[in-house]
Amino acid sequence: RSAHYYYQVVRDNGFPLPEDEKTLYGAFPTNFNWSTASASYQIEGSWRAHGKGLSIWDKFAHTPLRVSNSNNGDIACDSYNKIDEDVAVLKKLKVSDYRFSVSWPRVLPDGTNNYINEAGLNYYHRLLDALEAANIKPQVTLYHWDLPLALQKVGGWQNATIVDRFRDYADVLFSRLGNRVKFWITLNEPYIVANLGYGYGTFAPGIVGKQYIAAHNLIKAHAEAWHLYNDKYRAPHGGIISITINSDWVEPRNPYKQEDVDSTKRYLQFFIGWFAHPIFNGDYPDLMKTIVRRRSLAAGLPESRLPEFTPDEIRRIKGTHDYFGFNHYCTVLSYPVDLGNQQDYEADRGTGTTHDRTWIETGSFWLKITPFGFRKILKFIKDEYGNPPVYVTENGVSERGPVDLNDIHRTHYYNTYINQALKAHVLDGVDLRGYTAWSLMDNFEWAAGYSERFGLFYVNRSNPTLPRIAKNSASRYASIISCNGFPD
Ligand code: NOJ
Repeated sequence: RSAHYYYQVVRDNGFPLPEDEKTLYGAFPTNFNWSTASASYQIEGSWRAHGKGLSIWDKFAHTPLRVSNSNNGDIACDSYNKIDEDVAVLKKLKVSDYRFSVSWPRVLPDGTNNYINEAGLNYYHRLLDALEAANIKPQVTLYHWDLPLALQKVGGWQNATIVDRFRDYADVLFSRLGNRVKFWITLNEPYIVANLGYGYGTFAPGIVGKQYIAAHNLIKAHAEAWHLYNDKYRAPHGGIISITINSDWVEPRNPYKQEDVDSTKRYLQFFIGWFAHPIFNGDYPDLMKTIVRRRSLAAGLPESRLPEFTPDEIRRIKGTHDYFGFNHYCTVLSYPVDLGNQQDYEADRGTGTTHDRTWIETGSFWLKITPFGFRKILKFIKDEYGNPPVYVTENGVSERGPVDLNDIHRTHYYNTYINQALKAHVLDGVDLRGYTAWSLMDNFEWAAGYSERFGLFYVNRSNPTLPRIAKNSASRYASIISCNGFPD
């Protein structure tokens, strides 16, 4: 059902809106950070230009049957050659910030600092120049999934030496770009890296069943990069650095069934808690440690399949955040699932998910329009992780199929989700500092290729110049930004 149908038929029924669907009038704090985002592999193209090394996504997307329609990021949005076009559309939105990521193999072709590819680094310098001229602040992600292929040859995130490689890479970026970048994000969505890249194998590098070990190294790598910045660069550069963690909100499929309610707790602790608990509270969530240990021992294994942090590691990881970077898209309904003796993450979590049939569909099977959950999970973050400053580093919606620049579902999505964020701030006291729309423009949506389009700007892929064309939602987002919210 389209958003249009929802408005015309479902809502226009003469009954008052439920309380949680009413707009809250009001403004975000002054100096609120308004941003939109992209990621290197999803937009840059130029996969072999000027000495760039290969990444695991170059390989994955060139492997048959991995990506829809055999799409790849060889050209993507050609952002490597279109800095001016990209900054021109950012200016139209009037964002205060732009979130982009650096391609690790573009800067360090073999993944190590043995050789720095100045030509690759130069692209980011030119982008920073253009942003500076437009008075837009950069928010830079160090790792948005395009791991150097050379590092994957020795195990990638499964190999504990990646922690040093990541720190070395961070050192190069901090020292070369740090006088110009005051907002850093170490890792984007480690949950997806671990679970889809090394667990289910549906994303690069396509490895199965190794998510706990990959996650363990991701968390340590983040912590080391944070400490490096804190010790060596914070004083001279004065920026902030943290990690971006993603999570759905979850409700019990049947709120009257205790086992469904219990499954929501597992869902959240195995999702947001897996990464946020070690970094904000110290160590993995108790619920996770208990379940994985119990199930491992019951299967006759000598120890838990969930790796353990030493007490020193727990202390070193805890507190490695300057803010909570948060990506959110939707809510799911959960219920318990018993996978018997199966020894993996899925069986440990023991939770199935579904959607309510009234929720509006989008271009992505996993994404339904559920604004109420955004406010609830922001409140959960406040309560669970010590009321940190929160930057929403991604939030958005997709469509697929024929192009319609009148993207009413996206305008509806941003209106309602941003309003729920305002409620979280004003009514629940969440310390919200910024909001970021995903995405600036239609781009390479990972295993879905170009079939799912998240952009505020449409990229016409049948025109070789790949023009960026505003969808209606872009002008709506620009007015929310100009008003700094929803003034009466
Ligand atoms: C999260 C990821 O960070 C981003 O790369 C992706 O395109 C969006 N979600 C939409 O799936």
